[in-house]
Amino acid sequence: MYKKFLVLSLLFALCFWLSCRVDPYVPTSSKQVAFDIPKGWPQPYYQFTNNRLTYDGFQLGRRLFYDGRLSSNDTVSCAFCHQNFAAFSNLAHFVSHGVGNQNGTRNAPGIFNMAWNTSYFWDGGVTNLENQPINPMTNPVEMGETLPDVIRKISKDPMYPAMFQRAFSNDTGDLINSKHIFQSLAQFMAVMISNNSRYDSFVRGQITFNSSETNGYTTFKTKCASCHSEPLFSDYQFRSIGLEPEVMPVINHTGQFIIDSGREHITHNASDRYKFKTPSLRNIALTAPYMHDGRFLTLLDVLDYFSTSIKPGASYCATLDPSLTGGIPLTTQQKNDLISFLNTLTDHTLYTNPLFSDPNNYPAP
Ligand code: HEC
Ligand code: HEC
Repeated sequence: MYKKFLVLSLLFALCFWLSCRVDPYVPTSSKQVAFDIPKGWPQPYYQFTNNRLTYDGFQLGRRLFYDGRLSSNDTVSCAFCHQNFAAFSNLAHFVSHGVGNQNGTRNAPGIFNMAWNTSYFWDGGVTNLENQPINPMTNPVEMGETLPDVIRKISKDPMYPAMFQRAFSNDTGDLINSKHIFQSLAQFMAVMISNNSRYDSFVRGQITFNSSETNGYTTFKTKCASCHSEPLFSDYQFRSIGLEPEVMPVINHTGQFIIDSGREHITHNASDRYKFKTPSLRNIALTAPYMHDGRFLTLLDVLDYFSTSIKPGASYCATLDPSLTGGIPLTTQQKNDLISFLNTLTDHTLYTNPLFSDPNNYPAP
């Protein structure tokens, strides 16, 4: 009897030791998620202060991101507009379409490397990643829902109480609350780091560029990197590149025509009129259409615009970035090479990563 007990406990200890052993190369458990700052990148702006990153918090955020019940008609999830095959931007629409197929006013940006953004939205209207989801959720033309309703709906699903419990077990009271919804969404979005493009392999010295990519990179560094600065390919500043505002008038949900004044909308400062946040160019081949209103369909359209269409004398160019008064003249060869280089910024591991995909198709372990 005694012997049996000894053998059993030894066996148990062996299993325990095996399961706890940390192998430096193959994780013993796939229930892991990490926020690793890529080598050579600056410190992130979002620090997880008061929102400790956990595997369960991340998985809850992921589940919510793909859940249509965050919207009034139960079908418009975050992922409805932020499609993973489009680097979490939206391929289908110039400006976003929300509940009832209503039009928004802006093009949905890709979601990755969010922790390095110093502000969110094209006009930088939100400065904390945890406060960001309230906007689409309650915006009448996006998800058009109220927080109490979302909480009521998801609380009825037996899956969620356990998920909130696991993710926020240190908290007390009703765990299914808006703070936890926002914190888990922030955990999910912050972990979506994109740093596995050909460009990254090149920087790591693992591959070489062909001659077109090399020439494109050289042109990029002299003509584009002042705003689209490496390694994130944005300086996160607000600038006007001189786009004519009336090109695509939009109708908001009140039925009025509005013109998007950009950063001025937030600061109420006329010197910020028509300025928009410099977008990252990572994954740019996946995130067409381009610009805050999605007016350009192709990268060539964008380069043609920079090369020949900026009109410094036009009234709407009063706030044009001083570096663009002469445009950015480019030869056909330079445009082709720039496009070759921009194509090296695509990270195929971002949208193929099961961790970031719809949990209904790729269940969490
Ligand atoms: C109806 C389409 C739509 C839905 C649904 C939607 N978004 Fe967005 N999202 C957008 C658009 C459009 C923008 C840009 C808005 C702006 O700049 O004013 C945006 C911007 C963002 C940004 C800022 C990105 C940046 O680079 O500044 C984040 C983060 C984000 N959305 C996350 C979410 C989350 C989380 C949800 C779900 C709670 C969500 N979105 C639901 C369309 C949508
Ligand atoms: C003076 C700063 C500045 C310079 C220089 C600049 N850009 Fe931009 N770029 C911006 C801003 C700001 C936007 C967003 C404008 C908007 O939507 O209103 C933008 C938008 C873009 C977009 C669309 C991105 C998207 O997600 O929709 C592409 C592509 C782009 N730039 C490529 C380039 C290339 C290539 C060069 C060099 C030939 C360049 N830019 C030079 C500031 C700059």
